[in-house]
Amino acid sequence: MSRLAFITGATSGIGLATARILAENGYRLALAARSKERLEQICVEMEDQYSVHSEMFVMDVREEEQINAAVNQCIEKQGIPDILINDAGLARGLESYDKTSVPDIKQMIDTNIRGLFLVTHAFLPFMIKRNTGHIINIGSTAGLYAYAGAAVYCATKAAVKTFSDGVRIDVIQSDIKVSTIQPGIVETPFSEVRFHGDRKRAESVYEGIEALHPEDIADVILYVLSAPKRVQIADVVVMANQQATGFMVYKKNG
Ligand SMILES: NC(=O)c1ccc[n+]([C@@H]2O[C@H](COP(=O)([O-])OP(=O)(O)OC[C@H]3O[C@@H](n4cnc5c(N)ncnc54)[C@H](OP(=O)(O)O)[C@@H]3O)[C@@H](O)[C@H]2O)c1
Repeated sequence: MSRLAFITGATSGIGLATARILAENGYRLALAARSKERLEQICVEMEDQYSVHSEMFVMDVREEEQINAAVNQCIEKQGIPDILINDAGLARGLESYDKTSVPDIKQMIDTNIRGLFLVTHAFLPFMIKRNTGHIINIGSTAGLYAYAGAAVYCATKAAVKTFSDGVRIDVIQSDIKVSTIQPGIVETPFSEVRFHGDRKRAESVYEGIEALHPEDIADVILYVLSAPKRVQIADVVVMANQQATGFMVYKKNG
C-alpha cells in the first residue's frame, strides 16, 4: 500500500502545495486544519485531480482533545501515518516585543510550539511501536536569525529546530527519521495572517523580490521523503535568491 502522510496546515500555502505534490506522487493523505470548508474542497481536488482518496481532520492544534480525536480517527480509518508533516503555524504582528499583544504571543506559542509538540507526542508512540516513520517539522530561517519585531515568532521557530534535534536523539535506536525544513521568504497567505488581514501591507512584503513559491518548499519535502532508508536529512535551509538571512532581502526598488 502507498505511504500515508498526515499534514497539519494542509489548507493553504506550503501545506497545501505539499499535499498536492505528494498526491501527484502516489501518497495517501490525511489532511488537517481548522477550516472544514477548505478541507472539503481540497479532498475533492485530490480525488478529481490525482485520484487520491484523502481523509480530512478538522483540528485546531491548540486544542489537545481535538488532536487526540484526529489522531485516533486517522489510525482507525487509514492506519498509522508513515509521515507526519507539522506545517500548521503562523506569525502574528510585526512590532517590538513590548508592543506585541498578549493574545498574539499566546497564539504563536500555542500553535507553533505547543501544538506541534502535542501532535508529535500523539503520533510518536505508534511510530516507535512500528519502528518506522518520518517526522518533518516546518521551522523557518526566522529560527536561525532573529529579526526586528518578531521576537516571539523567531523564538517559536528556534524551538521547532531544537525540538526536532531532541526528538531525533530520542529515536536514534529506531528507523524513525526527523527532519526540519527551514524556509526563507515564501509567498503565501502567511503575511496576510501576520498583518491581521491587511492585504496591502502583506503584498508589500513581496514587492521587489522574487520570493520562494510554496511549491519550491514542497519539492524539497518530496526530496527529503524520497531519500533511501539509510539517509536522514536532518536540516534544510532554503532561501530566496535575493535573501541572505532571516529578514535580509535585497529589494530591487529599495
Ligand atoms: N511563508 C513564509 O514566508 C514562511 C517562511 C518560513 C516558514 N513558514 C512556516 O511555514 C508554515 C506554513 O506557513 P504558510 O506560509 O504556508 O502559511 P499559510 O498559507 O497561512 O498556511 C498556514 C496553515 O496553518 C493552518 N493553521 C494555522 N493555525 C492553525 C491552528 N491553530 N490549528 C490548525 N491549523 C492551523 C492554516 O489552516 P486553517 O486556517 O484552515 O487552520 C493553514 O493551512 C508555518 O509553520 C510558517 O511558520 C512560512
